[in-house]
Amino acid sequence: MAQNVIDTLKQEHEMVLSQLSELSSKGTGNREQKYSTLKENLIPHMVGEEQAVYPRLMDPGMKEIILEAIEEHSAVKTLLSQLDRVSTSEEDVWVAKITVIMENVQHHISEEEKHIFPEMQQKMSSSDLSGIGNGYEEAKKSAMPMAAR
Ligand SMILES: [Fe+2]
Repeated sequence: MAQNVIDTLKQEHEMVLSQLSELSSKGTGNREQKYSTLKENLIPHMVGEEQAVYPRLMDPGMKEIILEAIEEHSAVKTLLSQLDRVSTSEEDVWVAKITVIMENVQHHISEEEKHIFPEMQQKMSSSDLSGIGNGYEEAKKSAMPMAAR
């Protein structure tokens, strides 16, 4: 049986946070390649949530926090596209920018894990959750080429 979509999302959060923390330290080697790997994980994760998870949570009780989550994703994408234009050889500037990205992602993840996931766990049946899980995996796949740039 496929694992619970909430567990999948949490595992991906941990992975992305540890990659961000490595990238936000000075002196990290292979920075360019590690940054590509980060985007290959982070971008499909965000697209998957936007397409397959958030739309299922737009009821009156959750709408406000979901709209904020969507804006947080959009801020992170904008910051990533700004960072794409900075050379990794300018390490001080690069690290400052990725640190701000990490702070945004940390804030966003804690909102999801404190407020959104517990609500999903409580309100949704296991068949709802597995439906969302399937939709999430599909949406993530469709976003892979977007991330591999
Ligand atoms: Fe997430």
